[in-house]
Amino acid sequence: MELVEWVLEEVAQRPHAVRAQDGPLILEVGCGSGAIALSLLSQLPQSQVIAVDKEEAAVTLTHENAQRLRLQDRIRVIRLDITSEGRCTSLLPWSPMDLVVSNPPYVFRKDMEQLAPEIRSYEDLVALDGGDEGMDIITHILTLAPRLLNASGSIFLEVDPRHPELVSSWLQSHPDLHLSLVGVREDFCGSAPVPACPEDYAIVWLLCDHLARILACWTPGSPCVGAAQGEVKSAFLSPSHGHGSVTSHDGCF
Ligand SMILES: C[S@@+](CC[C@H](N)C(=O)[O-])C[C@H]1O[C@@H](n2cnc3c(N)ncnc32)[C@H](O)[C@@H]1O
Repeated sequence: MELVEWVLEEVAQRPHAVRAQDGPLILEVGCGSGAIALSLLSQLPQSQVIAVDKEEAAVTLTHENAQRLRLQDRIRVIRLDITSEGRCTSLLPWSPMDLVVSNPPYVFRKDMEQLAPEIRSYEDLVALDGGDEGMDIITHILTLAPRLLNASGSIFLEVDPRHPELVSSWLQSHPDLHLSLVGVREDFCGSAPVPACPEDYAIVWLLCDHLARILACWTPGSPCVGAAQGEVKSAFLSPSHGHGSVTSHDGCF
């Protein structure tokens, strides 16, 4: 899977961006069967994953697959709707995280009917429908991730080939998130992107803007929230804080 391959490349090329002693702590949003999370765990022996999905069936399946692959000790599977109010309470105790990965529901609603019949009849369509422009869950992930990630954290998302542009313009209207779109890889079923096939997809890589976030958090009276703030504080108080030890968070906002 291309998303997994890209994450592995980046972890290999930017080891300073992940923990020195442990492997990366990864959040997967919408784990489904656990394919992405478990592939990463099997390739990154020191890593740990928090995998969330709003469907109980997905949580159960990911658990079962983790056990079958003997990876259950390094994964925590949580039933969680990423759009719900409780998302921060559930996830902040695990922050700061190093990576957020997701293959979210991203199909444009108007394209749902063009999906191949085998997909329409076997898949849970809610797991694919991303709303009018396919951005509903993507924007929730982009809003949440900076609050959970460490200052050089990365986000990798599988999206529609039209999404890199949409994500880029959405980020311009949300500068407070301090996220930058730094890479795009596209996979077209034909030789050219037009006409588009339903199987076409892109992977986007976003980086937290380390300096901008730290400066924003360090400005007296700033409304800084989330992992960046916790990181700045703990960097001064206790440089060796571990997973789950940041206690300054009391919510997302
Ligand atoms: C396209 S599937 C991807 C499944 C799996 N990660 C994969 O790559 O095969 C999207 C997944 O996101 C989950 N999902 C959809 N909306 C969600 C939400 N609001 N919060 C958490 N998970 C959600 C669905 O249940 C589904 O398992």
